[in-house]
Amino acid sequence: MRILSGIQPSGSMHIGNYLGAVRQWVSSQNRDAYYCIVDLHALTLQIEPEKLREQTVDYLASLLAAGLDPEVCTLFVQSQVPYHAQMNWLLECVATYGELSRMTQFKEKSSRQEGYRVGLLTYPVLMAGDILLYSAEQVPVGDDQRQHLELTRQIAERFNNRFGVVFTVPVGVQPAASARVMDLQEPTRKMSKSLASPLGLIYLNDEPSEIDKKIKKAVTDTDNEVRVDWENKPGLTNLLEMFASFSGETPPRVAERYTRYGDLKKDLSELIIESLAPMQQRYRELRADEGALRALAAHGAHKAADVAGPLYHRAAAAMGL
Ligand code: AMP
Ligand code: TRP
Repeated sequence: MRILSGIQPSGSMHIGNYLGAVRQWVSSQNRDAYYCIVDLHALTLQIEPEKLREQTVDYLASLLAAGLDPEVCTLFVQSQVPYHAQMNWLLECVATYGELSRMTQFKEKSSRQEGYRVGLLTYPVLMAGDILLYSAEQVPVGDDQRQHLELTRQIAERFNNRFGVVFTVPVGVQPAASARVMDLQEPTRKMSKSLASPLGLIYLNDEPSEIDKKIKKAVTDTDNEVRVDWENKPGLTNLLEMFASFSGETPPRVAERYTRYGDLKKDLSELIIESLAPMQQRYRELRADEGALRALAAHGAHKAADVAGPLYHRAAAAMGL
């Protein structure tokens, strides 16, 4: 099964990224799976060059620590495979301004910034290129990327109709629980690197004491009944979903065992700390050898280019270049 997915090297990886996307990457990795750190996408944000360089290496270590095996799948950095930027231009001449300006994420992010970059608008086109360059059949992503994936499908179909069949039309895959992990302090908003509230996010590398504090302080409600109810109890339901994702149960099953919020929070905090500990240990070991991480990325970029290059040339030729 050909798979592709990507993650931005902005801020640090959090449990929303892990439960919504990266854990699926690990479980579905195979010789035909391509995972990229999308540093070109990160340029749509305000980000210091030195930070971007450093975080790109941090993300390599985090993804390996989470369980990606470079002997099995291909892990690479987007900007090291030049076809992504090239394909972006071809597809910008297929996508329309109207469809890009209707994207929810664009509307939200552009309303928060004055003089936002053109890249914020065209970002889903770059993402479509990432996917189509690898003829991906499946794209494991969190719920917030569904709309971008739908647009990718439209762009692929339009291209194929206009220029002949070059692209595979992909489908998005979401996990059963935790496809949208919510902010612990504002549970009607997704947990997000770009709107980080200090107590709202749990990072994969948080200390046990920080995790414990954040879970204990997570906003819930006052009626003290433990049940799954996104509408009336988003904070509590978010905790139940996280619990179920880590323990391998369903959220209602977890809810059945508890009558008190405090007990649920205590056990959840222990479960998260225990689940993240081996990854944190591996992260520290891997991050210590930056040379090895860079060599691994270079190797991944070569493997990725072997697939992306021919596809790019086919698309360019189909368009008359
Ligand atoms: P990003 O950090 O925006 O590059 O996202 C990387 C991956 O994590 C994408 O597949 C997102 O859909 C997923 N993701 C990001 N935030 C969340 C969240 N709060 N809950 C679930 N998945 C998420
Ligand atoms: N847009 C995605 C996000 O912000 C990241 C991304 C870029 C991606 N290219 C991709 C995800 C290709 C899946 C496939 O989360």
